[in-house]
Amino acid sequence: MAKLNDNYLKLPGSYLFSTVARKVREYQEANPDKKVIKLSIGDVTQPLAPAIIESLHKAVDEMGKAETFRGYAPDLGYEFLRNTIAEKDYKAKGCNVSPDEIFVSDGAKSDSANIQEIFSIDNKIAVGDPVYPVYVDSNVMAGRTGTYDKVKETWSDVIYMPCVAENNFVPEIPKKVPDLIYLCFPNNPTGATIKKAQLQEWVDYANKVGAVIIYDAAYEAYISEADVPHSIYECEGARTCAIELRSFSKNAGFTGVRLGFTVVPKELKVDGVALHGLWARRHGTKYNGAPYIVQRAGEAVYSEAGQAQLKAQVAYYMNNAKYIYNGLKEAGYSVSGGVNAPYVWLRTPGNMTSWEFFDYLLEKANVVGTPGSGFGPSGEHYFRVNAFGSYENTVEAINRIKAL
Ligand code: MLT
Repeated sequence: MAKLNDNYLKLPGSYLFSTVARKVREYQEANPDKKVIKLSIGDVTQPLAPAIIESLHKAVDEMGKAETFRGYAPDLGYEFLRNTIAEKDYKAKGCNVSPDEIFVSDGAKSDSANIQEIFSIDNKIAVGDPVYPVYVDSNVMAGRTGTYDKVKETWSDVIYMPCVAENNFVPEIPKKVPDLIYLCFPNNPTGATIKKAQLQEWVDYANKVGAVIIYDAAYEAYISEADVPHSIYECEGARTCAIELRSFSKNAGFTGVRLGFTVVPKELKVDGVALHGLWARRHGTKYNGAPYIVQRAGEAVYSEAGQAQLKAQVAYYMNNAKYIYNGLKEAGYSVSGGVNAPYVWLRTPGNMTSWEFFDYLLEKANVVGTPGSGFGPSGEHYFRVNAFGSYENTVEAINRIKAL
């Protein structure tokens, strides 16, 4: 008789953004005349840049001719893309990452969920709190997190590293020693960043205790300040302790196109075994590669025209972030983030819970954001607003909030 993976039954509620979407749907059904503005899930709204569209069209045409048609992509990704990434994202920025350490995928969400598979179930994970929910949920599904405390909303075997105003939303090295450390900078959801010297401390710590850092750099394109690392490989010693996840979703608008990559350096070993070989084995067995046309679109991201167009796109969203940050501040909210990240993190007024504030904004301003508590217990009384809307909608949403 078939048996369930009952770890799935331990998951509390539904995925955060599914709950948000359901609540908004119900509100809209009950209030069809209201214009709801969504600044919740970090989904982009600007069309793909012309250089990317051009590359997609060309690749589609190639697929229509026998001489240029492509079937299965190479397991690890096409060389044209991996070479470009190694050159432009790493070598040009002084980081030592070779093309064969880059694994092309359909995005950082799936990689961040899947990477835990190559580690023992006995590993203790440490996460920032609040945290992108995928890191924790995927470990729950694997059975690595122990039991759930409904009151505290925490798992017994997860090491939570509070990211709060007092530490500028940057986690401190935990008292209990973790085996796997998830770090995300620029941070989702708080929009906080880490300085290079602080990240170096994490790298030194991981090397000292034999932990592996899973570094999610999906938002690196939004960094505007100097001394904020774009890659963990800017730190000395990262090649022996860190895996890096990158995405094309936020820097190039690929949320609906799907493309990302993971870097696993060859020196990174656990129990003397190179993780590179394990991830390659996993990739080869479970994945048939991102589509050729999408990888060509990814290559266009790095072309001269692509870079200029995407710089303008990132600037467009960061102009929204500035409007959100300043507008909410003027309205008396305590806000952070929004300078090196497309997320603004605000303290809810009057000690409202995050979900109370969510309902309040939805009903009174018809604006949707993301409740901070959905990202972890330290997110309670916080709320995330994203900068990925159109400028017009962003202005309208913030003006509605200011008028409350
Ligand atoms: C978010 O809103 O946190 C992100 O868009 C979710 C994701 O990238 O999967």
